[in-house]
Amino acid sequence: MQQLILCVLLASFWTSCTGAGAPEKWDHAFKECAGKYQSPINIVTRKTLKDERLTPIKFKNYQQIFRSTIKNNGHSVQVGVPHLSTISGGGLQGIYKAVQFHLHWGNNGGPGSEHTIDGEQYPMELHIVHMKSHYTDLTTALRDPEGIAVLGFFYEKSNSANRKYEAIINTVRNVKATNSNTSLPAISLAQLIPSEQNLTSYYRYKGSLTTPGCAEAVVWTVFEKPIPLSMDQLGAFSDLQFHDGKQMMGNFRPVQPLNGRQVFRSGGAMILASSALLMAAISMALGLSHPN
Ligand SMILES: *[C@@H]1O[C@H](CO)[C@@H](O)[C@H](O)[C@H]1NC(C)=O
Ligand SMILES: *[C@@H]1O[C@H](CO)[C@@H](O)[C@H](O)[C@H]1NC(C)=O
Ligand SMILES: [Zn+2]
Repeated sequence: MQQLILCVLLASFWTSCTGAGAPEKWDHAFKECAGKYQSPINIVTRKTLKDERLTPIKFKNYQQIFRSTIKNNGHSVQVGVPHLSTISGGGLQGIYKAVQFHLHWGNNGGPGSEHTIDGEQYPMELHIVHMKSHYTDLTTALRDPEGIAVLGFFYEKSNSANRKYEAIINTVRNVKATNSNTSLPAISLAQLIPSEQNLTSYYRYKGSLTTPGCAEAVVWTVFEKPIPLSMDQLGAFSDLQFHDGKQMMGNFRPVQPLNGRQVFRSGGAMILASSALLMAAISMALGLSHPN
């Protein structure tokens, strides 16, 4: 019931204003949206702190094939996931099971991710939402400050189509109208994300849901490695429609203040600044640079 009211409110927020104005109004309606530890954020890589406990995440049953429905819920497309796939390790306190995934995007491949890296906004962002394995519903999990773990993945433009996304993007074309849904061909979560060997580099911080009620109950993991999609594939999402029939795009919340939070990076996460320093050190050692 609570969730239903939330969704109706949420849908009207997105549709009443498709521009950047809408999310600013949230903190009037939802107290927590004005909280101190909100998401998304801009990740400033040189200010991240390397944490050796952030080892590779253990994905279990991510290869499991499942059937589900894809739904245009008025602010995104969402797919429910049977609770078989779990994540653990990587500094997470316990096991979290997958609940659903959805996306945030821009205008036909334009800037659209929620998190940004050193100010760069990617064209789209995937959120795979998990809750602690002993909870049976999201409402309860949202009352636990670490009840939810979201995995965030960026997308990048590629010259060729991503075959692993063909089926899902074809169904996106069939749920243009708000509240429409259609069955999804059998998919696995693993097929949506980069191979496990490419997932060792990630950022970690404590934040919130990026839609009302903005509960500060989320352990965020944002992966460095983007998922490639062609321009056509990215553009398919902009053909979806809000309640009022307007094109669904720009359905991301702007970045929120850090308010003193530390962002950590995994052992594998690269930091461009350090490779630049390394290069400088090497060229110094080789006598290639002449400081003065
Ligand atoms: C999908 O749409 C059908 C018919 O419009 C509806 O009865 C059903 O409840 C919807 N399913 C979901 C998961 O929203
Ligand atoms: C990681 O990604 C790169 C670039 O997309 C790819 O060439 C490489 O094969 C991937 N590595 C593994 C181990 O899958
Ligand atoms: Zn999201």
